[in-house]
Parts: sequence; C-alpha cells; structure tokens
Amino acid sequence: MFEDVSISTKDFILPIFVCEGNKIKREIKSLDGHYEYSIDELIKYCDIIKKNGISSIILFGVTENKNDNCSTAIDGNAIIPKAIREIKKNNKDIIIIADLCNCEYTVNGQCGIVVDGDVDNDKTNEILAKQAIILAQSGADAIAPSDMMDGRVKVIRRKLDLNGFQKTLIFPYSVKYASAFYSPFRKAANINVSNIDRRTYQMNYKNSESFINEVKLDIDEGADAIIIKPALIYLDIIWRAKQLYKLPIISYNVSGEFLLMKSNIKNEFFDYENCLYESMIALKRAGSNAIISYHALEMARIIKNHD
Ligand code: PBG
Repeated sequence: MFEDVSISTKDFILPIFVCEGNKIKREIKSLDGHYEYSIDELIKYCDIIKKNGISSIILFGVTENKNDNCSTAIDGNAIIPKAIREIKKNNKDIIIIADLCNCEYTVNGQCGIVVDGDVDNDKTNEILAKQAIILAQSGADAIAPSDMMDGRVKVIRRKLDLNGFQKTLIFPYSVKYASAFYSPFRKAANINVSNIDRRTYQMNYKNSESFINEVKLDIDEGADAIIIKPALIYLDIIWRAKQLYKLPIISYNVSGEFLLMKSNIKNEFFDYENCLYESMIALKRAGSNAIISYHALEMARIIKNHD
C-alpha cells in the first residue's frame, strides 16, 4: 500500500556496441551476454529489445579506424552515424542517445586532442561540436558528451542551434568520476588502456563537493538531463544532486558494476535476480529518473516476474 518507489522497463537505456562489417554478432568477453553487432545484425537486435519493452539505447562504436587527430569522429560515414541512420529507417520510435567522445577513435585512447602530453580542452570542444552535428544529422535524439571537457555543453548547444538542431537534446555526463569501474567497457570498446590516465579531466572521487559545480555549469550551459556515473557506489551523489537540482537524472550503472553482479550469477549462495532487482530499485529510490545499464534486457524479464 505504501510503496512509493517503482521500476519499469521504460526506465532503462541499453548500451549497445556497434562494429564494422556484415553479419557480425561477436561476443564481448568483458561484458557477459553482450555482443558487438554489425549494422544489419543491430537492426534485428533493435526489434528484439523493442519486443521486450526497452525503447531507449545508447550507442558505442568499436573500430580499428583510429588516429590521433579525431577525424573518424567527424566522419558522417563512420560506424555510429551510419548505425543511427539505419536504425531510424527501420525503427523510428527507438530513442537513440549518442555517446559523444573521442576515446573510441584515438590511438592513444584519450578523450580528445592531446597537446604537450595532455588533452587540450578547447581544441577538443571544437571537435565535439562538429561530431555533435554529424550525430544530430544522422537522427540521434540526444547527444551525451562523455568526455568531461569544461564548457562543452555550451559550445555544442550553440553549434546545434546554429545548424537547425534546436530540438536535439543534450544529456551530458555531468558527474563522471575517474573510476576503476570502467575497465570492462574499455576492453569492449577496444580502447588503448595501457597508460591511460584521465584524472586531469574526470573527477576525483575523494572530493564530495565538486559535483555541485559540475552539474550547475552544465545546467547553465543548456543540459536537458544529466548523467551521473558510476551509479551503485555513488548513490550519495545521486541523492544529493536530486535534492539540489530539478532536472532529470540518468544514472549509469557502469561496466565494472555489471561485472561485479554477474560474477556471482552462478554462486549458489547469491540470489542473483533478487539482488539485481533490489540494486536497481536503490538507484530509483536515490533519485534516478532513468538508468543506463547492461542489465536492461534481463531487468525487463525480471520486472515482469516481480509485478
Ligand atoms: C567514453 C565512455 C566511457 C564509458 C562510457 N563512455 C569510458 C571511459 O570514460 O573510460 C564507461 C562506461 C562503462 O564503464 O560502462 N568516454
């Protein structure tokens, strides 16, 4: 009678990895149950997820086509713009969020243009804005900059508006900690991880206040919703952001959190499905309006059994 927290398949956004080629559905070893899809297979997969009640996706490109001037990211015929166009042709009502970053396309694995050994904030913003136009032209409903450069929401919003994309939304990763929980993702997205250090632009998890300013800046610059990540071990931050700001919060239940849960699926002492369900409810209770999760499809099934 007094339950005030609920969860639905509509709350979920499913991350999908897209690769070049044809008829490819390649297992991703670091993300149990997930695959890289070539565009033809991706279209079939989108039908399956829609049938299961999931209507939002976030896309990541897996490619060997990399260089350090970020030219792949601004190529309209690169894998992600192509994938967005094809999905929209076949499945208009799937909501596509396009992750906006360069780390999938740079040889060094950094999120932008490196100058004197460090990512150059403003040069990277110019590339991001160009990339945002390509993604919007392809039909992305929302752009999700995950690079963590300062001022990028402002630059992207202005560029989108000037090019006639006033209706394309921006969901920035406003709060993104320099976390060790991203490593299965980096493996999945074929990102060079050997000596990567993103602490000059991602946030320090030993600071409990800086998120307040990061979110405020993004809202002032034109964010339509904000993404916070990781999620399950940052419930305090989600909750505090919810109290401070009245704007939709999307929590990103990241790859390392997924791995932690999945590692126990065969453990007879672990009640996997109920623990997963309870964890997702915790994200809702803390204030998430939506959840990006590799568990999205299995949650669609689990939710049905719970209600
Ligand atoms: C790209 C990006 C990352 C994730 C989402 N977008 C990786 C990173 O910053 O290293 C991580 C997602 C996950 O771990 O599931 N910048």
